[in-house]
Amino acid sequence: MAASKRSVVSCFFLVLLLAEANAQGLKVGFYSKTCPQVEGIVKKVVFAAMKKAPTLGAPLLRMFFHDCFVRGCDGSILLDSSNNQAEKNAVPNLSLRGFGIIDDSKAALEKVCPGIVSCSDILALIARDAVVALEGPTWEVETGRRDGRVSNINEVNLPSPFDNITKLITEFSTKGLNEKDLVVLSGGHTIGMGHCPLMSNRLYNFTGRGDSDPSLDSEYASNLRKKCKPADTTTALEMDPGSFKTFDVSYFKLVAKRRGLFQSDAALLDNSKTRGYVLQQARGSTFFHDFGVSMVKMGRNGVLTGRAGEIRSMCRVRN
Ligand code: HEM
Repeated sequence: MAASKRSVVSCFFLVLLLAEANAQGLKVGFYSKTCPQVEGIVKKVVFAAMKKAPTLGAPLLRMFFHDCFVRGCDGSILLDSSNNQAEKNAVPNLSLRGFGIIDDSKAALEKVCPGIVSCSDILALIARDAVVALEGPTWEVETGRRDGRVSNINEVNLPSPFDNITKLITEFSTKGLNEKDLVVLSGGHTIGMGHCPLMSNRLYNFTGRGDSDPSLDSEYASNLRKKCKPADTTTALEMDPGSFKTFDVSYFKLVAKRRGLFQSDAALLDNSKTRGYVLQQARGSTFFHDFGVSMVKMGRNGVLTGRAGEIRSMCRVRN
C-alpha cells in the first residue's frame, strides 16, 4: 500500500516535471535575449537566395511541412544519411531543394550566436520568409524548438497526392490539425510545381476504360494531356498555372473550378466541411490570416523543447 502511494506521488512529480518542460516550450521571440539578430539574419539569407532563384521558395515551404509531419518539427528532414538512410532519401523528399539555404543561415548564425539557434527553428523561419518573399502573408513564428537526433527513411509516411478526403482528414488530425487547417495549408500549392507521374493517372485510363478522372475539369484535362504524355516521368507542371511564383488565393479558385492538380487537391471538395472551407478561402479575404494561423499550429507538432534533443552545430549532422 505504502509502496503504491509512493509511486502515485512520484508519478505526480513526474507529471509536474513534464509540464514544466512544456512550459519552457515554444514562444514568439524565444531568442530575444540570446540571439536577437536571428530573424534578420535568416531573412537576409532567404531573400538574397530567392532573388537569384525565386522558385526555391516552394520547396522550402514544403520542406517545413515534410519536417513537421515526420517525428514532429525537429529538423530530422535536414539530416544526411549516415549508418542508416535518412528521411531525405525517401521518395517524396527527393524533389526537395534548398538545403543549402538552411546551411547558409546556420553558418551565418553560428558566427554571431554559436550553439544557440536550432536548425528546426531556422527551417520554421525560412518557411515563413519564403512565403513573404513570394508576396504572401507574414506571421509571427514561434521558436524554441530543439533538434532531433534521429532521421529514418522508414518513418516517412507523408500524405500522398492519391489520398482521398477521409485519409487526408485522418492524417492531419493525427498531427493536431483539423479540416480547416487541411484546406488552408493545402493552399501552399499556390506556389511551385508537381511532376506528371503524380497526376497522369487522372488523365489516362482512370478507371480502366480509357477515361480521365471525372473530378477533373475536362477542358483542363485535355490541356494537361498535351504537357504530360503517358510515360512522362520528368515534366513538372505549375500547380497554380499563371501565378505559381506568387503566393495568392488563386489555388482555391482553381480547386473550386475542379482544376486542382492532384487527387488530394480535388478531394477537398468531397466533404461538406472541407468544401465549405475551399469556397470560403476562394473568396479570398481570410486566406492570408488563416494560413499564418495554421502554419503556427503545424509548427507545434511533436516539437522537442527544454532539455530534449540538441542544438546542432551543422544542420546536416548530429553533434
Ligand atoms: C494535403 C496533403 C498534401 C499532399 C498530398 C501534397 C502533395 C504534394 C506533391 C505530390 C507535390 C509535388 C511534388 C513533386 O512533384 O515534386 C507537392 C508540392 C508542393 N507542396 Fe504539397 N502536399 C500536401 C500538403 C502541403 C502542405 C501542407 C504544404 C505547405 C504548407 C505543401 C506545400 C507544397 C509546395 C510549396 C509544393 C511545391 C514544391 C516545389 O515546387 O518544389 N503541400 N505537394
